[in-house]
Amino acid sequence: MIDAPADLLHRVRAHGQDHLFTGWSALSAAARRAFVGQLAGVDFAELARLYARRGEPHTLLPDPSAIAPMPVEDAASFGPETVRLGEECLRRGEVAVLVVAGGQGSRLGFEQPKGMFPVGPVSGATLFRLHAEKVHALSRKYGVAVPLLVMTSAATTAETHAYFLAESFFDLPRSQVIFFEQGTMPALDAATGRLLLTAPGELNLSPNGHGGTLTALADTGLLADLKARGVKHVFYFQVDNPLVEIASPGFVGRHVEANSDASTKVVLKTRPDEKVGVLALIGGTCGIVEYSDLPGELADARDAGGELLHRAGSTAIHLFAVAFLERVTQGTDRLAFHLARKKVPYFDAETGTAVKPTTENALKFELFVFDALPLADRWLVVRVRREDEFAPLKNATGADSPEAVRAALSAAHARRLRAVGVEVADGVAVEIAPLFALTDAELRAKIPAGTRVTVPTFFE
Ligand code: UTP
Repeated sequence: MIDAPADLLHRVRAHGQDHLFTGWSALSAAARRAFVGQLAGVDFAELARLYARRGEPHTLLPDPSAIAPMPVEDAASFGPETVRLGEECLRRGEVAVLVVAGGQGSRLGFEQPKGMFPVGPVSGATLFRLHAEKVHALSRKYGVAVPLLVMTSAATTAETHAYFLAESFFDLPRSQVIFFEQGTMPALDAATGRLLLTAPGELNLSPNGHGGTLTALADTGLLADLKARGVKHVFYFQVDNPLVEIASPGFVGRHVEANSDASTKVVLKTRPDEKVGVLALIGGTCGIVEYSDLPGELADARDAGGELLHRAGSTAIHLFAVAFLERVTQGTDRLAFHLARKKVPYFDAETGTAVKPTTENALKFELFVFDALPLADRWLVVRVRREDEFAPLKNATGADSPEAVRAALSAAHARRLRAVGVEVADGVAVEIAPLFALTDAELRAKIPAGTRVTVPTFFE
């Protein structure tokens, strides 16, 4: 006898997922409640639809003849009027900041959420600290509490909350930091379409991809709250990039001037085979072509000046209009799931054993945030210098490793110091705390020109 709610039982059975109740009688009352909670969050009909379409070609793959280079504006060309517009927008409290930190960081192989990784080249500050201090500095500069939204997932929520608490929210008022959690998606057995279990009474769930940010923002009611508070734009970035310039007034101002739905920062792609998505016009609308989807001839193509034709490399830094976010999280414009075939260990209900597959046995489904871009009526793509704004922490060693990221931070800060007349000896690690100086003008006001830095130094 399975004492689960009747409507849930009916849905599970109607979708041929009876195996889920294997071992039910041996579960404690608490475990049954938890499992019913998991099952209640599952959209069985949607999973059945996704499973039925598993063999269809990758419908999101664009036809190569429809892909054209994306026109790009240079951030260095923004004039004082544009900057002023952005500053006014910030001062009126129309910008919120959103960092996505729900990923599992599997390539880095760090035990804790990636935001807790120490990257400060001198201070050892963590990614979360650097981001929070930038938001603090921005709030101080514009005299307004810029909301910091932190999106976590089931994999990162508990530790992230505990970490912010232990660090006293990095001195931000508690009410300025808003946590929310992205949704999960069950993994399916690729051969049968059955939901996989990790143990009796426990679904195999994964975060639903960074695109889950947008649906979670809307579904939790946060988007409506932000709008009610007068927020008109959401600055989105990934937790792994400590060089991110959060909501710089030039970028905000140009986004507002262009009445853009979705604005994106790009860096020049360096090599045809660099593993970075490129912004492109796809059938006349804005889109990102993932590196694995960009046909070789397009990846290699050069313009008359000898530069890569498709060189607008994505940084995953976006500024979205709230009105646009409302539209892409409702009705038919909602984002579509991408399917990935993965090796997923599971509990075999029939044999009662744990199975560690050696080949891809499962289907996983993820939403990608950049699938929102083609839905924009007006967009803006802004080129920034990679060495100034983009150094993502992805891998344990080599490119995008902790060493590479710390070196990039130190080099960027050394350039800022030299630009205001400070002498920094070659190879000496330097770091500028966001609350010390967010902009070069602030830096100039604090450090006399001619200052010499010959030992590792943290300006705080
Ligand atoms: P990545 O795709 O690089 O994933 O995420 P990751 O978790 O950092 O690392 P790998 O791939 O497992 O090694 C880019 C950004 O999107 C967030 C991550 O936290 C990171 O900021 N993300 C990713 C989410 O918030 N949720 C997800 O479901 C996936």
